[in-house]
Amino acid sequence: MKQFPTLTVTNHPLIQHKLTYIRDKSTSKREFKALIDEVGALLTYEITRDLPLTAVEVETPLQKTECHKIDDRNLVIVPLLRAGLGFVDSIQDLIPNCIVSHVGMYRDHVTKEPVTYYTNEMHNPGEKSFIMVDPMLATGGSAVAAVDFLKASGARDIRFMCLVAAPEGVELFAKAHPDVPIFAAALDEKLNEDAYILPGLGDAGDRLFGTN
Ligand code: URA
Repeated sequence: MKQFPTLTVTNHPLIQHKLTYIRDKSTSKREFKALIDEVGALLTYEITRDLPLTAVEVETPLQKTECHKIDDRNLVIVPLLRAGLGFVDSIQDLIPNCIVSHVGMYRDHVTKEPVTYYTNEMHNPGEKSFIMVDPMLATGGSAVAAVDFLKASGARDIRFMCLVAAPEGVELFAKAHPDVPIFAAALDEKLNEDAYILPGLGDAGDRLFGTN
């Protein structure tokens, strides 16, 4: 996208179709989660498009042949707690050998700065590929801080996947991390005064976990 060179919006009709139901406030919690799983799988297909492949020899029932594998044991999914958990099932279904490494952040009410409250220790992060996931890229504050944390741990190859992005969040994120590509199903209009994305889909965590 010209305005945001690091952003890829996956405009596939199937994704747009499912996103329509995800946005609809009358969609049930059960259906919402099922749709997040489905769109999560479709976005995973797109975000993993350039993963390197290694040649391996396989014996079919008829003959030996050269096939190709991704390095799935060195692929780390990083869900940003809590809403990022919504994407984990679909990615694990597609890539069962991937590592899931959670990052927990909240926004301090006084300073408005993101505070990290949970991380996992990682081995050889420089040799791994990371996909950070959060359905909503709103202000971008937590996403920037979470990638700061990954990079400080030694991670180099990082992608960010979300369902809906706000221009404000994409701008902040791209400025802080121009080397981290963003994959989204939609780029929405703007944030409201409470930092919710418009038109958006509401609070993704609340709708996933029934806390609203
Ligand atoms: N987080 C959400 O869940 N929804 C928004 O609109 C913004 C941030």
